[in-house]
Amino acid sequence: MSTSHTDAADIAASLRAAMVDELREMDAVISESVVAALAGVPRHLFAPGEPLEAAYAANHALVVKRDTGGLALSSLSAAHIQAVMLEQAEIKPGMRVLEIGSGGYNAALIQELVGTEGTVVSVDIDPDIVDRARACLATAGYDRVEVVLADAENGVPEHAPYDRIIVTAGAWDIPPAWVDQLSAAGRIVVPLRMRGRTRTIAFDRSDDVLVSRSYCLAAFVPMQGSGAFSEHIVQLAEGVVLRVDEEPQRFDVEALRRALNSPRMERWSGAAFDLPDELELFLLTNTPQVAMLHADEDLVDQGWFAPSAARGVPALISGGSFAYRTKRPNQEIGGFESGVFAHGPEAEAVAAEYVELLRRWASDHRRRGAARIQYIPKTARTSLPSRGLISKRHGTVVVTWP
Ligand SMILES: C[S@@+](CC[C@H](N)C(=O)[O-])C[C@H]1O[C@@H](n2cnc3c(N)ncnc32)[C@H](O)[C@@H]1O
Repeated sequence: MSTSHTDAADIAASLRAAMVDELREMDAVISESVVAALAGVPRHLFAPGEPLEAAYAANHALVVKRDTGGLALSSLSAAHIQAVMLEQAEIKPGMRVLEIGSGGYNAALIQELVGTEGTVVSVDIDPDIVDRARACLATAGYDRVEVVLADAENGVPEHAPYDRIIVTAGAWDIPPAWVDQLSAAGRIVVPLRMRGRTRTIAFDRSDDVLVSRSYCLAAFVPMQGSGAFSEHIVQLAEGVVLRVDEEPQRFDVEALRRALNSPRMERWSGAAFDLPDELELFLLTNTPQVAMLHADEDLVDQGWFAPSAARGVPALISGGSFAYRTKRPNQEIGGFESGVFAHGPEAEAVAAEYVELLRRWASDHRRRGAARIQYIPKTARTSLPSRGLISKRHGTVVVTWP
């Protein structure tokens, strides 16, 4: 081996060790088995042509392929989210694992976790990605991973059942094949989009339904093929949109545009504001007429919108009126208080409904523990509760709170 090769390998090894240390500090990795896999697999061999520093940046995804409009179709996901998902999956030696969405690196990590007695199948819809993944795996010496070219909507039945399925593209639904191809005590880790936000959720199979063990906010390239899903964007004004997962005609768009130009009403809940991601999930799943409101940063800077709208905030919509969450400092409650801005002829009523939700969250659920997320396939013999439902094509997501 030439000196420069030895130097590059040494640099890669020290960058890899630093990446693992950083992932530990971020609490992305906890278990020794995942640490050992991350420390052992040469990630840079799955990012040919990229600088070593980029390959080993803990929180940075590397785009591998874009569509003609520039949208990322495939990436080497950030090591951080890969570590989080592997921790969620709790993969043990000897398991059979299906990875949906290939690239090679994550499959190599899984191969380390299942060991020589286990099986790793990785499926991708894109022939270029399949070829690339096979080549990278061969270079890195992981020739036992089976890389399959297919639309994962149908799973990979020829190698099923699987103890674990790890989905590495953003899904809007859970197709029946994924549940059917899980073993009786199997687990699926899937970035699932619910009302405009994606969370990677670890679901255990429990008879014919899926029950969450953990979840974490995440962003992924979109699922392609027959499970592809596009959100609806409803423009209310220049720089102001509603992003809706359901049909946009449910909203009276013209009336909402008028509401936007009407004076703003403020109402305050008296309740403390914290755990914003959990509150957001509660708000999104406790009212049927909800959409994510997004406003450009400069409109926020000019005072037209609360800062919450720049990141996207659940908006409660009723006819031609809407309300969304904001916050203000409040020394009496030792931090921030949640409140509502509302517009439109029914602003008073929609603000009151929103404030009631904020109070219910604060009094009944805040800091009582994480949500329980279930996926109930349409074919399951389970009755649905009346609250916390999100309808999907193949089933229903049910979100409940302790
Ligand atoms: C984030 S990349 C996968 C990263 C990979 N797991 C790694 O280790 O680097 C997501 C992949 O999902 C693939 N994909 C999207 N929709 C798919 C589908 N319906 N079936 C199979 N693969 C799909 C894309 O082609 C893309 O390569």
